[in-house]
Amino acid sequence: MLAHARAPRTSTPGGRTAYLDADIRHVDGILRAPDLRETLDLNRPVALFLIAVLHFLADSDDPNGIVRALLDAVPSGSYLVLTHGTADFDPEAERLAAARGQRGVHLQPRDRAEFTRFFDGLDLVEPGVRVVHRWRPDASVPAGLTDAQVSSYGAVGRKP
Ligand SMILES: C[S@@+](CC[C@H](N)C(=O)[O-])C[C@H]1O[C@@H](n2cnc3c(N)ncnc32)[C@H](O)[C@@H]1O
Repeated sequence: MLAHARAPRTSTPGGRTAYLDADIRHVDGILRAPDLRETLDLNRPVALFLIAVLHFLADSDDPNGIVRALLDAVPSGSYLVLTHGTADFDPEAERLAAARGQRGVHLQPRDRAEFTRFFDGLDLVEPGVRVVHRWRPDASVPAGLTDAQVSSYGAVGRKP
């Protein structure tokens, strides 16, 4: 996978790509990485996608501080796009997360209030915090899909 990610890519007038193999808990190293600085112009708004990643971090990893550090590095007008597992709709989810933890994979569902805190200081884009399949659903959402089946919050925020 890394070999493919690092394979030479063709840049276009539309933009450039780069791939960093990094642990998000080492956020300072990510922000200092030459590949990042050479690829993204952090004087212009960027979109920061953290899709299904932060629930792998424990509270002791300070996920809120990590998001804050990333947002501090980007200018006004940038967006944060976040999804995160939750046990709000499925009491079994906490038990499953604990079972995975025993097998060495830390998984920490967070509730709606905890999820919403990641967006402190940002303007939430309509419709705000929703279970993922309810955030501007389109025809691809299967009929009858339940909040418990999805068990993941999603939202988009704009840095003012
Ligand atoms: C459920 S996948 C989501 C991948 C991708 N964002 C997507 O939506 O397809 C979770 C990803 O988080 C990555 N991950 C877990 N802990 C991480 C960490 N501490 N730093 C960076 N990535 C991490 C895993 O390697 C995995 O690729």
